[in-house]
Amino acid sequence: MRAKFFVRITLAVAAVLAAWLALRSGAAPALTAADASTQEIMKLKLGYSQGALQAIAMEDYSLLALNAQKLSKLSHATGWHSRQTPEYQLFTAEFRRHADALNKAARDTNLDAATVAYFQLTLSCVSCHKYMRGVKTVRLNSPGR
Ligand code: HEC
Repeated sequence: MRAKFFVRITLAVAAVLAAWLALRSGAAPALTAADASTQEIMKLKLGYSQGALQAIAMEDYSLLALNAQKLSKLSHATGWHSRQTPEYQLFTAEFRRHADALNKAARDTNLDAATVAYFQLTLSCVSCHKYMRGVKTVRLNSPGR
């Protein structure tokens, strides 16, 4: 009886803790782009791109413009430039171009253009990540490291 009670209490505490953690990670982090690491910037990007998808799905152009502008701004953040190679700069420029296209589509209240820009933006996330993985693999396989 007593043991069961403790199991219940433990489960309840765990549930509250999990909910608290979920809420914390869901809340907008109080970060300025300038002092954020690449990882933190990426988490922000994920959040804003999810916000953009929500805005497109709900045809909320002001929400879309807001998220697109945040994404474009993030491409100028310092941490973002931490691994500068010509290729990385190209991927960054491409990412910014699609974020700007998304913003323009929001201002033009053009849902089709927004959908295309969102798709291209997502592709640019994936291409840069693929490129980064490739770089890491090359580094890992090269002798003397
Ligand atoms: C120009 C390159 C580039 C683009 C574009 C890019 N990323 Fe990333 N992303 C990175 C790099 C580099 C890392 C690895 C960060 C690290 O581990 O330090 C990363 C890691 C991540 C992570 C994992 C972060 C973590 O906690 O480990 C997420 C999530 C992510 N990116 C989301 C996105 C999303 C969403 C987009 C597009 C809207 C995007 N990224 C576009 C370069 C890019």
